[in-house]
Amino acid sequence: MLLNISGAKYSKITKIGEKIRNLEKQTGNKYLYLNQGVNNVCKIDINNIAKSIDYNTKDIQVYPTMQGKIELRSAINKVYFNKKSDEKNILITGGGMSGLDLTFQTINVNKIFLPVFYWGSYLNIAKIRNINSDFYEDFDWVKNNLKILKNSAVVICDPNNPLGNKYDDNKLLNLIYDLNNNNIVVIIDSPYRKVFYDDKDDFYQKIYNLKNVIIVESFSKSIGLSGQRIGFVHSIDNNFINEILIRLMYATNGINAFSQILVTKILDTDEGKKATENFKKTTQKAIKQNIEYLISKKLIANDFFKTSQPKGIFTIVNKSEHELLDKRIGSVSLSFFTKKQNNVIKNYSRICVSVPNDTFINYFSQF
Ligand SMILES: Cc1ncc(COP(=O)(O)O)c(C=O)c1O
Repeated sequence: MLLNISGAKYSKITKIGEKIRNLEKQTGNKYLYLNQGVNNVCKIDINNIAKSIDYNTKDIQVYPTMQGKIELRSAINKVYFNKKSDEKNILITGGGMSGLDLTFQTINVNKIFLPVFYWGSYLNIAKIRNINSDFYEDFDWVKNNLKILKNSAVVICDPNNPLGNKYDDNKLLNLIYDLNNNNIVVIIDSPYRKVFYDDKDDFYQKIYNLKNVIIVESFSKSIGLSGQRIGFVHSIDNNFINEILIRLMYATNGINAFSQILVTKILDTDEGKKATENFKKTTQKAIKQNIEYLISKKLIANDFFKTSQPKGIFTIVNKSEHELLDKRIGSVSLSFFTKKQNNVIKNYSRICVSVPNDTFINYFSQF
């Protein structure tokens, strides 16, 4: 059979997980899976919310509307945009991955610029869609090289995956305004941001109406529902929304109705808001404690946090994947997240710090 082979690779992170599971079987020892990219401090308590859903309805049993349920888009407009945007600017997707894929394939640009330390899927999606990609060193480079970025798109991920660093919002906003004003497409893919902010966060309200800005969001991290495969894309460019709507339709025939109703209830009922608040409070506290513990043990890779803060849910430690595995800690070598290769990068690793603090200390006190 003749095939269109993309050259994209299966995530190394999944392979590390398989390796650790095998080691656990062979040795009978428990490992800490910090190679993963999900919040693992606690679960969001959705049992009662799910029970309140009536399954014997058209709402659940029949194809959902293609752009996503209006109730969900309206709840998103309320929670993320303080009702300033419009439901027509929001399209429900099967998570951030699908939102990014739809965005990458729809925008007509010469190149997509990624951060020099990047989430590998960006590159793989670009490869599958035959789109050129390149890298920017840092936000100062972007600001000073707007000419080079002409006819390109820039992806902004803050707090970043893999570094877990968070830049000052004003610095980010200035950069986004500059890019937008120079007609450069900005893809805001920051699914970790809302883990640390509540409904009062007005960041998106300050950029929602910029014509070159596309916001890709996800409920995988902010409310811990990666299993539900749901997120959204926001843009005020109607042509862009119409085109990705068509592409979403022929790729999926709509996004799972149950997950749409579930997320609507989480965003828009008192019970859902309480569950979200509890989830975020517990998660934020453990992440902060874990980062502080790493700092106190001089395990954090300070080089990466000179002009930004280590916020989470990831951070970089000055130990190699191998050294961490020796202590039964799963991680991903920093070299996996960049084309830059040197000894520092080889000997540093990305870990997920979103786990309970006592468990975290149990393992890291071995250093
Ligand atoms: C930076 C970044 N963007 C987007 C996603 C997509 O997540 P999902 O498809 O679960 O929404 C991830 C997941 O790990 C991520 O790290």
